[in-house]
Amino acid sequence: MDHLNAILTKAHERLAAEPELGVIDWLATELGTSFDEAIIDGDLQGFQTLCRSHPLSQILLMDPYARRAFEKPRGYAGDAVMLDYIYRPARSSLDGIASVIHEATTTLPNAKSILWRQDYLANLINKTMTSRETAEVLSVASGHMRELDRLRDITRDTNVKFTALDQDPASISEAQTTYREYDILGETKSFASLIRERAVAKRYDLIYSAGLFDYLQDNMAIALIKAMFARLDPGGVLSIANFTRDSHGRGFMAGFMDWCLIYRNEEDLRSLADAACPKASHRIFRDQPRNVVYLEVFADRNEQ
Ligand SMILES: C[S@@+](CC[C@H](N)C(=O)[O-])C[C@H]1O[C@@H](n2cnc3c(N)ncnc32)[C@H](O)[C@@H]1O
Repeated sequence: MDHLNAILTKAHERLAAEPELGVIDWLATELGTSFDEAIIDGDLQGFQTLCRSHPLSQILLMDPYARRAFEKPRGYAGDAVMLDYIYRPARSSLDGIASVIHEATTTLPNAKSILWRQDYLANLINKTMTSRETAEVLSVASGHMRELDRLRDITRDTNVKFTALDQDPASISEAQTTYREYDILGETKSFASLIRERAVAKRYDLIYSAGLFDYLQDNMAIALIKAMFARLDPGGVLSIANFTRDSHGRGFMAGFMDWCLIYRNEEDLRSLADAACPKASHRIFRDQPRNVVYLEVFADRNEQ
């Protein structure tokens, strides 16, 4: 842990001397390596304790994005309000070091991957709309549905009916209020209800879930993919996203934001797909910023 302490002290000194984005980028890269070592050594707790007890921690938590993750007002890090710092950056009232840290945490590679995901989902929805009179789309853990900001940019068509499933009624309501041109049916419930309900009441052309699988253990992830797949119409697609084991912010998030995800790589998603729907064809790929992997599973047009 001496090396980790030296990294933290160096970042602290560099920030105090000249606050700039590059320091946070450098720190995140270094912390990624230390985080991996701590995981191998089974000492995540030691890693987190050292980060949090270092004076650098108080400086980094001046950033409202990092602070919200750390304080978890909705019970977990990475809620929809927090993600809006990335999707919809507001002119910040922060200055000095706090403003530099905020700009860094909301624009560095993990944030770029969240914006890439927003674009990807909008394009997927648009593709589904162009091949159908009215596309039926289910978003699982829908949050504020900021992909609709991008969808608005791509097309003026609105031939889509969304079902927004989220445990948080405030997030659903924010989506319905913001995107009034779209038909959005809110379902305030847990994704677990999809797993429990044996009879499938409704089917969809597209079912996606972003920002949820990073919190699910394998058994739950497999059960949810199965439940999503069972709700696809023939020719439908399901898509899930997961931050990767080598994603850039992993050490910074665990160390300073108390934000620990369940990271997965391509082979991990392949195992989930094989366990959940072994007969279905699928596609696995990584985003361009290279911090998130995607699994798309396709429901056959002829049989399911
Ligand atoms: C990280 S946000 C992702 C929001 C959005 N999908 C996105 O990508 O921006 C996670 C969302 O999952 C929802 N969520 C967390 N646990 C859930 C559960 N058990 N059932 C349904 N939604 C859940 C939260 O309320 C939150 O809106």
